[in-house]
Amino acid sequence: MNVRRVEIKSLATFVPPRLLTNADLEKMVDTSDEWILQRTGIRQRHIVDPGVATSDLAAEAAKKAIARAGLTPADIDLIIVGTVTPDMLFPSTACLVQHKIGATAAWGFDLSAACSAFTYALTVGSQIVAAGGAQHALVIGADVMSSIIDYTDRATCVLFGDGAGAVVLGASTDPAVGIIDFEHRIDGSGGASLCMPAGGSKMPATHATVDQRLHFVKQDGQAVFKFAVRQTGEICGRLLKRNNLTGEDLDLFVSHQANKRIIMSAAERIGMPPEKVVINIDRFGNTTAATIPLALNDAVESGQLKKGHLILLTSVGAGFTVGSVLVRWGL
Ligand code: ACO
Repeated sequence: MNVRRVEIKSLATFVPPRLLTNADLEKMVDTSDEWILQRTGIRQRHIVDPGVATSDLAAEAAKKAIARAGLTPADIDLIIVGTVTPDMLFPSTACLVQHKIGATAAWGFDLSAACSAFTYALTVGSQIVAAGGAQHALVIGADVMSSIIDYTDRATCVLFGDGAGAVVLGASTDPAVGIIDFEHRIDGSGGASLCMPAGGSKMPATHATVDQRLHFVKQDGQAVFKFAVRQTGEICGRLLKRNNLTGEDLDLFVSHQANKRIIMSAAERIGMPPEKVVINIDRFGNTTAATIPLALNDAVESGQLKKGHLILLTSVGAGFTVGSVLVRWGL
C-alpha cells in the first residue's frame, strides 16, 4: 500500500455568539473574576442557547472549512467528529453533520477521546487519507460542554465553553508540508479523575441519577493538573526526540487549552519560549475537542502562524488520553 503525505487543506471554526463572563459566574456561584483568571487564565466562554447541539456548531465549522478548501460537500468522503457531547448516544454526530451539510458521498464516525479528540481524529483521518482510503477527510472537534456542566459546582463550571473547529485533509501538494508524525497514549488508571458517571450502560438515567447530579462532569482538578503537566512534557519530548528535534526547532506550540498554567509549564519543559505558545483560553475557556482548531485559527488570524512553520499540537484529556502531532503548516 502506498503511503502519501497528508496536509491540512483548510481550517474553520464556529462558536455560539452568547458569552458567559467571569462576572456572570460570580452571580451564579461563590467565585471571583480574580480567582478564575489567576488559576485558569479564563475571562469568558461562548455558550449555546437552549436547543443548539454539537452537530449544529460542527456543521457551521464544516461548511466553512469545505468552502475554504475550494471543495463542495459532495467531495468529502470521510467525516470524523471528535466529541464528548454527541447530540445523542446514537445516531453518531458524524451522521447528523453529514446530513446537515449534504456530504452525500461520505462515511464517518464519532471519536471519543475527550480533550484529545482533535489530535486523535487528526491522526486517524490523516492515516486513512495517507493509505488512500479517502481523498478528502473532514475532521471536526466540537463540544457543547454547557450541556454536561453543573452550574452549581464552582470547581468545574468556570472552566468550560462551547465551540467547534474543522479541517479538511487531503494529499499534500508540496511534500515538505503536512502531518509529519504523531504520538498518542491512553492511561485508563486515571478514569475516575475526570468523568460523567451516569447516562451510560453502567448507570443508565434514573430519577436517582438525576437527583444526585450524576449526569454532569466530575473532576479531581489537582490529579488532572499534575497528570497533564507531566504527560504533555513527556509525550512532546518523545515525539521531538524521535524526529531529531528540540523545542528550539519549533515555530509554535499549540496545546489543548484547559488551563494557562498547564500550557506554560508544559511549554517550559520542552524549551518553548512564551512568545511561541498559543494562548486563547482567555476568550473561549476549555471547549474540549474544539480548543486546538480554535487556537490554530486565532494563530493564523493574528499572524502568529504562517505557511512553512513547524508546529507541535498537544492534548491531554479524560481517560486519560494524551496526544501530540507534529505538523509543517501549509496554509
Ligand atoms: N472559585 C473560587 N474558589 C474555588 C473555585 C472557584 N471557581 N474552584 C475551587 N475553588 C477553591 C477550592 O475549593 C479550594 O479551596 P480550599 O483551599 O478552601 O479547599 C481552592 O480554591 C483551591 O482549589 P484547587 O482545586 O486546589 O485549585 P487549583 O489551583 O488546583 O485549580 C483547577 C483548580 C483550575 C480546576 C485546576 O486544578 C485545573 O485546571 N485542573 C486541570 C483541569 C483540566 O485540565 N481538565 C482537563 C481536561 S477536561 C476534559 O478532558 C473534558
